[in-house]
Amino acid sequence: MKTNRAGWDAFSTAYEQQHGAQLDAGPMAWGVWSIPESRLHVLGEIAGLHVLELGCGAARWATALAREGALPIGLDLSGRQLEAARRTSAGDVVDVPLLQASAEALPLADGCFDLVFCDHGATTFTDPYRTVPEAVRALKPGGLLVFNMSSPLHDLCYDIATESVTSSLQRTYSEIRKQSWDDEVTFQLPYGEWIRLFRQNGLEVEDLIELAPEEGATTTYDDYVPLGWARRWPAENIWKARKTG
Ligand SMILES: C[S@@+](CC[C@H](N)C(=O)[O-])C[C@H]1O[C@@H](n2cnc3c(N)ncnc32)[C@H](O)[C@@H]1O
Repeated sequence: MKTNRAGWDAFSTAYEQQHGAQLDAGPMAWGVWSIPESRLHVLGEIAGLHVLELGCGAARWATALAREGALPIGLDLSGRQLEAARRTSAGDVVDVPLLQASAEALPLADGCFDLVFCDHGATTFTDPYRTVPEAVRALKPGGLLVFNMSSPLHDLCYDIATESVTSSLQRTYSEIRKQSWDDEVTFQLPYGEWIRLFRQNGLEVEDLIELAPEEGATTTYDDYVPLGWARRWPAENIWKARKTG
């Protein structure tokens, strides 16, 4: 966690410079190819819902959801990322509460949220065995956990040397669970293990949406190019699971 906090504090300005324009252009758009929510219909009707965004960064998603009538809180581990959120939302018609904390230990009461979600947010950078139980604890019965992140397939085929995704397996299935990079640690699970973890925590899987960008799509996220890869294999997937009971 310390590595990721320091890493994101250090990376925040460069991240905004590199990706801010793309993210501003599609604040309610999923993943590195900015596929609009209006096309995927992942979240459904969100007006009036209490929403927690895990790893909100500059809180573009949370702000956009608030404009649609949701009641979001943006949570992030990095103080610098939350500063970016304050800058981008300054003067907005909505005011999104921001909270500095880790998704692995939410300083929030049980059962407060209808929706806990993120788009390449904290679920990439936290141990799923800590974050999923915490998200479930924060959800109301019947609430939804939704998160988009790289697919296991992408992580298996990512080549460190060329910093791009390839069409061959670069590591074992187990090695994707926890990967240490220069300034961050990322997490993933094999597909079956995600499902077991959800079920052990009282979640029922409703969908696994495997994202496919349209022809001609562009991205500022170099580690997901070439586009042809993501059109042939799912590079990102959105898990959607509901708290039972
Ligand atoms: C790739 S950025 C994405 C931010 C935002 N979702 C977006 O699309 O712009 C990932 C975010 O996760 C945050 N993060 C990393 N570890 C976290 C943790 N343990 N708890 C909460 N947020 C975390 C980082 O600070 C960063 O803001």
